Amino acid sequence: MSELNNIALKIIEEGKGVLAADESTGTMTKRLNSVNVESTPESRLTFRETLFTSESMKTCIGGVILYDETIKQSSSLGGKIPDLISKTSAIPGIKVDTGAKVLANSPDEKITEGLDNLRERLKEYYKLGARFTKWRAVYIISKNYPSKLSIFSNAHALARYAALAQENGLVPIVEPEVLMDGNHYAEECLKKTSEIIKKCYDELILNKVDLKGTILKPNMILPGNKASEKLNTNEIAELTLKCLKDSVPTEVPGIAFLSGGQSEIEATENLNSINKNNNTSFKMTYSYGRALQQSALKFWSKDTKNTKGTQAIFNHRAKMCSLAAQGKWSQNIEKQDN
Ligand code: 13P
Repeated sequence: MSELNNIALKIIEEGKGVLAADESTGTMTKRLNSVNVESTPESRLTFRETLFTSESMKTCIGGVILYDETIKQSSSLGGKIPDLISKTSAIPGIKVDTGAKVLANSPDEKITEGLDNLRERLKEYYKLGARFTKWRAVYIISKNYPSKLSIFSNAHALARYAALAQENGLVPIVEPEVLMDGNHYAEECLKKTSEIIKKCYDELILNKVDLKGTILKPNMILPGNKASEKLNTNEIAELTLKCLKDSVPTEVPGIAFLSGGQSEIEATENLNSINKNNNTSFKMTYSYGRALQQSALKFWSKDTKNTKGTQAIFNHRAKMCSLAAQGKWSQNIEKQDN
């Protein structure tokens, strides 16, 4: 078994998933300001350290995605942040794209940048302790979108990133995110997401990426957030499984979903339904940002000194996601554990 495959399997070990704590400074500032906390390097670190020292890190979190600022910060307990994470047995990872910018000749769409100097940055992140990476491409759905240009350009960039990450001993998380914005039906999301994922694998294969040493981070198949259509959780699971079964090569060891604007409960319930009905060879787990952090952040913002209280909320959420990753979550457990 290759080292990259080993790392990927450890991140998505049974009952574990990924904590996506890699918000850029701009996004983290928005999140902190929304709960009336000033965004400074110290406040960003304090909140994140509160999560990284929680009990559930040992049992529910296989990997943590960091942002460039955080991976270089020192922990208040001594040592660097990646060392703090490694001590919990979770694997430190790093977001390496530099953000989604306007796509030339299709200005409503975005292309993710960050290939310049990527090889050098990967070497630096490896030395800092990272063993996996993330690159996020974003796509919109509407009558004419996503365009062929955005599907091709983002797949090409994702594949070049993934090849470079593996060259430097790091597992690439490949994240093509189809945004939920809009009034489209779930069928449309299914069709577009499948086309996007297939194109990503065409490019990954062309770039000779070892698929066993990668993890896919897709969206679930949902109707647009302004759509009149409403699906129940089993319908969402069925469409999501259909999409992944049809478009992901079986060598890929696992799939870790983004939450993408779903509430904490929706993201948990839908992951649980996916696992209850999982008829694929893929491990299905979480790589959540908002759906793991939202309630903890809200609580923490009211009393930033209350580490234990914040951790209790994060531990509960992580435990619920862990159960969902095994198809063992229920509304009753959700209430009883609270
Ligand atoms: P959300 O779960 O909040 O969508 O974030 C996941 C992520 O890492 C997006 O790139």
